[in-house]
Amino acid sequence: MPKSFNQQVIEEFRANGGKVGGPFEGGDLLLLTTTGAKSGERHTVPLAYVREGGLLLIVASAAGAPSHPAWYHNLLAHPAVRVEIGTETYEAIAVPAEGARRERLFRQVVRVAPGYADYQARTTRTLPVVVLERPEHGAAGPREVDNLADKLIEVHTWLRSQLRYIRAEADAHLAARAAHQGSGAPPVPGLGLQIRQHCLVFCETLTFHHTGEDAHVFPALAHHHPHLREALDRLRDEHRTVARIKDELLALLADIGTADPHHFRAELVRMSKELTAHLDYEEESLLPVLAEIPFPPGPPAPPPEPVLSPASVPTPDPVSAPAPDPESAPADSAGSTAVRR
Ligand SMILES: [Fe+2]
Ligand SMILES: [Fe+2]
Repeated sequence: MPKSFNQQVIEEFRANGGKVGGPFEGGDLLLLTTTGAKSGERHTVPLAYVREGGLLLIVASAAGAPSHPAWYHNLLAHPAVRVEIGTETYEAIAVPAEGARRERLFRQVVRVAPGYADYQARTTRTLPVVVLERPEHGAAGPREVDNLADKLIEVHTWLRSQLRYIRAEADAHLAARAAHQGSGAPPVPGLGLQIRQHCLVFCETLTFHHTGEDAHVFPALAHHHPHLREALDRLRDEHRTVARIKDELLALLADIGTADPHHFRAELVRMSKELTAHLDYEEESLLPVLAEIPFPPGPPAPPPEPVLSPASVPTPDPVSAPAPDPESAPADSAGSTAVRR
């Protein structure tokens, strides 16, 4: 089957350190990999980008087509995306700008790439401007991971910091809301996509992490370290409690514009309390044993061994966040038109 145009651009981009010739010669191009809103499959599209005020911006223009490109629907459903830019690859959170911020950013984009004004003129939809946020590591910065305890701490640190961020955003929203009360005050906007996108990524990562622990780490630890079984039972119970709160949050996120912000904030507080206690107890109970297990796992140990060592506990990347699929499906057709300005 002949390669699609997008696939040819993607291959050229990857083979040449992010440079592409032909109609894109000298243009600012990145590869965006999203997760299909319905299919759950990974899709990569080449897109033009604009850097403005320290932000990395893309516009869901689809060249002024009447509908949003598929990649935009994908990132609304799954805000965790992968960005390839030059020779660098990293995970980011995609956050569409809203309201006055969107207007300001779009004006800045048009100053750099005037073609977007033409695209906007061709369609009645408001072209979404998406900020690709690169999450910061914990305050201590990235640390070396060479055993499973380090990996657990890495994921826990990310979960804690992401939850702190969402709570701070929710608090700021409530404060702004309180300040708007009174006669003649403009209508108060809903909680917004900034909170929604971050909270979705938090929930997805939390689910993936706890699923991995329940399915892989805990059974292996219970088998090789029977003295931990009581603690593991408690940790599984805590996973269920946290999952119930996460489901409440997801239900509120389903319609973030009309969700009750006080209810949302209350669920966040519950999540913080339960999750913090869980992470603390898990670290206290498991870190000494996990520190004995190399990560990433080394080559398979030579069989047979009379006694299983801790290093032989199967560790199929059970505690990490969802790993990007290096194989990218061909881009959607609407997305392909976005490589222009
Ligand atoms: Fe954990
Ligand atoms: Fe856990």
